[in-house]
Amino acid sequence: MTVFPKPARKPDNPRFSTGPTTKIPGWSPDRLERALVGRVHRSGVAKARLKYALDLTHRLLKLPAGYRVAIVPASDTGAVEMALWSLLGARGVDMLAWESFGAGWVKDVCEQLKLDDVRVIEAAYGMLPDLSQTDPSRDIVFTWNGTTSGVRVPDARWIAADRQGLTICDATSAVFAQDLDWEKLDAATFSWQKVLGGEGAHGMLVLSPRAVERLETYTPPWPLPKIFRMTQKGGLNEALFEGATINTPSMLCLEDYIVALEWAEGLGGIDALIERADGNARVLADWVAVTPWVEFLAGDPATRSNTSVCLNIVDPAFAKLPDAERAKFAKDMVKLLEAEGAAFDIGSYRDAPPGLRIWTGATVERANLEALCPWLDWAFASVRHSVADAA
Ligand SMILES: Cc1ncc(COP(=O)(O)O)c(C=O)c1O
Repeated sequence: MTVFPKPARKPDNPRFSTGPTTKIPGWSPDRLERALVGRVHRSGVAKARLKYALDLTHRLLKLPAGYRVAIVPASDTGAVEMALWSLLGARGVDMLAWESFGAGWVKDVCEQLKLDDVRVIEAAYGMLPDLSQTDPSRDIVFTWNGTTSGVRVPDARWIAADRQGLTICDATSAVFAQDLDWEKLDAATFSWQKVLGGEGAHGMLVLSPRAVERLETYTPPWPLPKIFRMTQKGGLNEALFEGATINTPSMLCLEDYIVALEWAEGLGGIDALIERADGNARVLADWVAVTPWVEFLAGDPATRSNTSVCLNIVDPAFAKLPDAERAKFAKDMVKLLEAEGAAFDIGSYRDAPPGLRIWTGATVERANLEALCPWLDWAFASVRHSVADAA
């Protein structure tokens, strides 16, 4: 096998995973010193810390007045399920899906909630569905940034300001990296383990006043497990939005989230975070533009993610391989890079077309992406050559 010379410099931090994503620059466990471990989460001091995280989230995201935020169980999945199970069923629903996570929400709504009035509006990997097909008199469920295809909605102009239905948005790989039009989102979710490099297990749910109104005036016909319940005696459980979580949170993970929020605020807030993600994604875009073997999976530049960048290998030698061998080719590249300590966890999602997926959210340092690009070329050349040798 031909040995290609390795690039001189490796990324200082090879963590480019899409979640949990790399921690904030300079992170160490010492940063968690203030964590209220061993304290009851319902003690005054712990509740104040939880409330501080909620307030900081509200401020950093510039949520409109009247919007509520809660920490909920089971990460982003928990927050999405909580919204779907609590809010849907009052109207027909338009379900948008263009990659694996959106498809998962479609499956849940059709097969678990078994709603009769569901319209599924789909697109293949790399594309966005026709957003103009959505109907403002119906509820709409969508993923702002499709993490597994690197395709995001470019904006929320397609959502009517005077809609009668609610929008439920899985925004986990967009929040803190993209400009979300909150007035157009009634229930939005994210987790700590995405753009701010936090820990898994905790979800965030953001509700508009109209979503709260739905909760207070509509009772779904199906049973709701305790961990999904946001109402008490017909009214909203306001305490949940003041830091009284439904069940026990990790105060260690909470502290880690706060450290990341304070880092974000210190940088200059949401605009600085968006700028970092945009700058990071640009490094890869500039490299793709001059690299013949690779292309974005997202066809339309306006829909390209600035967090989960998904790349197709388009070299003719790769394209003519059978499916299984294309998947092996991409996996071999990923393994080589991991063995070299140049990049961890950059394989495409298991249901997505074989290729690479590289996180460019705000916690990633641009210099590390710059250092990564020559390694991607090296891994491609090495694997391509070994495939040619074997033929
Ligand atoms: C768009 C999207 N939705 C949901 C999830 C699931 O998130 P979690 O594991 O935090 O529940 C992910 C995780 O990558 C995601 O990218």
